[in-house]
Amino acid sequence: MPVTVVIGSQWGDEGKGKIVDLLSEDLDIVARYQGGANAGHTICWDDKEFVLHLVPSGIFHDNTTCVIGNGVVIDPAAVIEEIKTIEELGYSVEGRLHISHNAHLIMPYHKAVEQARERLRDADAIGTTGRGIGPAYMDKFARTGIRMVDLLDRDTLRKKLKQAIEEKNTLLKSVYGADELDVDAIVEEYVEFDKMVDPYVTDTTQYLNRALADGKHVLAEGAQGSLLDVDFGTYPYVTSSHPTVGGCCTGLGVPPTAVNRVIGIVKAYSTRVGNGPFPTELNDDAGERLRKVGHEFGATTGRPRRCGWLDLVALRYTTQVNGFTELAVTKLDVLTGMDEIKVCTRYRYNGKETGRFPSETQTLERVEPIYESLPGWSENLQEASTFEELPANAQSYLEYLQQKLNVRISLISMGPKRSQTIAVPPQVAA
Ligand code: IMP
Repeated sequence: MPVTVVIGSQWGDEGKGKIVDLLSEDLDIVARYQGGANAGHTICWDDKEFVLHLVPSGIFHDNTTCVIGNGVVIDPAAVIEEIKTIEELGYSVEGRLHISHNAHLIMPYHKAVEQARERLRDADAIGTTGRGIGPAYMDKFARTGIRMVDLLDRDTLRKKLKQAIEEKNTLLKSVYGADELDVDAIVEEYVEFDKMVDPYVTDTTQYLNRALADGKHVLAEGAQGSLLDVDFGTYPYVTSSHPTVGGCCTGLGVPPTAVNRVIGIVKAYSTRVGNGPFPTELNDDAGERLRKVGHEFGATTGRPRRCGWLDLVALRYTTQVNGFTELAVTKLDVLTGMDEIKVCTRYRYNGKETGRFPSETQTLERVEPIYESLPGWSENLQEASTFEELPANAQSYLEYLQQKLNVRISLISMGPKRSQTIAVPPQVAA
């Protein structure tokens, strides 16, 4: 059976959590393939709201097994805390959560180094979530990281941790002028984690490939968004992993030939948290309205998100990189009540028009978006349970997006609840 990949098409916060939760109902396994506790996936039902940072959004479906793949960087304290919260909510995690033995760990020194570096960069800071993601991936690729499997062997862990903390203390003190960390306290805290994580740590690549061979259906869940990809995003204002489709293969160990469905999640407008270029950003009443109505505040850090119009130059680019086979449009309800909805179709740079998404930050910071304007709608979308029941102008907006991106829209989300969703059958126009 095949792999379905769910990917954010913008700068993250597209509403992937809800879509993964919905799709999980019919799937056997949900697997996270990159990122760490920088992600915040919000799920809502029975008027309750849950934010997951590490455990995949399928955990609230009893028949779904969840996997945290080798491509994820894991803060063991955070994952233990999250498991506790899920169990307190009445969901059993036992036998339903597998964590890759090859996944790398985020340690307190990763967060300390990140904070010190961001402070030093000052105005040029990336505006990270402060979860130690970048420094953990740095250690992974420098081949000095500590992995999940090391947590299970106290002697090895002690040795590796001491070495790593001593090295990081030198860096913190001499380069960043920051406080050193207490080696013994960290070692003692982390060796205690072995029993807590032991039931979950396994060879998830074997597990997933066997499951696929047995006809199980896997949903691969990307965190963040394509424009935050370390290679394809707005570098250096990106995260340190691959939210794009290739990350699914390297972050889980499943072959690309197993992937047959790539769902791009498109928020009906754009948002971005942290620093970096954002051509369609609105620093006016319309932007403020999107933030307010869309509750655009970070699920992990609480920071206000920057808001703007939809950017088709960026979306055509991420559609190309990921090969989306279908799109899920989220937060359509947030646009209700706007007289006019603008969509950026091209950029103007140095007096010339272009449809290219530039990779140079300096260029992207200076492009002028060229907009097309579409009429808004004022009718309440909650009345609609099919595409045809949506207000005519909302239908036109979706048809316009589908036509411009040349990808079918298969899901429309109009609110945080599971029920506030329209599944669009293939034969319908949108
Ligand atoms: P990091 O991933 O914490 O290193 O942060 C790098 C950049 O990615 C910053 O601009 C963050 O705001 C952004 N970022 C990281 N995770 C998310 C997310 O889940 N949603 C939106 N932005 C994110």
